[in-house]
Amino acid sequence: MPDNNSSTSKSEQNTTPSQNVESPKDESRRKLLTTTAYTAAGVGAVCALLPFVDSMNPSDDVQALASIEVDISNIAEGQEKKVMWRGKPVFIKHRTKQEIEEAKSVPLIELKDPEEDAKRVKPGKEQWLVTVGICTHLGCVPIGGQGEYKGWFCPCHGSVYDTSARIRKGPAPKNLAVPPYEFLSDTKIKIG
Ligand code: FES
Repeated sequence: MPDNNSSTSKSEQNTTPSQNVESPKDESRRKLLTTTAYTAAGVGAVCALLPFVDSMNPSDDVQALASIEVDISNIAEGQEKKVMWRGKPVFIKHRTKQEIEEAKSVPLIELKDPEEDAKRVKPGKEQWLVTVGICTHLGCVPIGGQGEYKGWFCPCHGSVYDTSARIRKGPAPKNLAVPPYEFLSDTKIKIG
């Protein structure tokens, strides 16, 4: 019977030492191939992830609602306009001189959530007050021009806001929030 082990041994024995030792040229080629393979795998992984990541971005209609432009040219002095932004009401109030003076004259020490009126409006545009119309107590929508300070009144539990929409009385802990907004012109603002 042929001895398989002996034939294997022979072939192993016939292997010359030069076949097992990698030359410097072979080594650099191997490194190049390894690097190329890893790079290709990385690019492939990124490409596979792109559709997934892209699907997590907000759709165009959602992005469009992330900011809104509002024409304020038709809001008469003393009036307010209510618009919806990201599912929330936003009050845009065109304040009278008297309302501005009342807001400015309040000592901060009297306020539950002390904040200067000037910090709640844009410089040079103090006639415009823009706030999120959600009571900071439990989320009702306050009514404009009502309450002791003629700012806003929340009928749910009696919170009273002044003409800078700062909380003055009642259970609400904070002023009505001022959303991010900017003037695009004298008659147009962008909220968000
Ligand atoms: S929700 Fe406005 S006072 Fe309670």
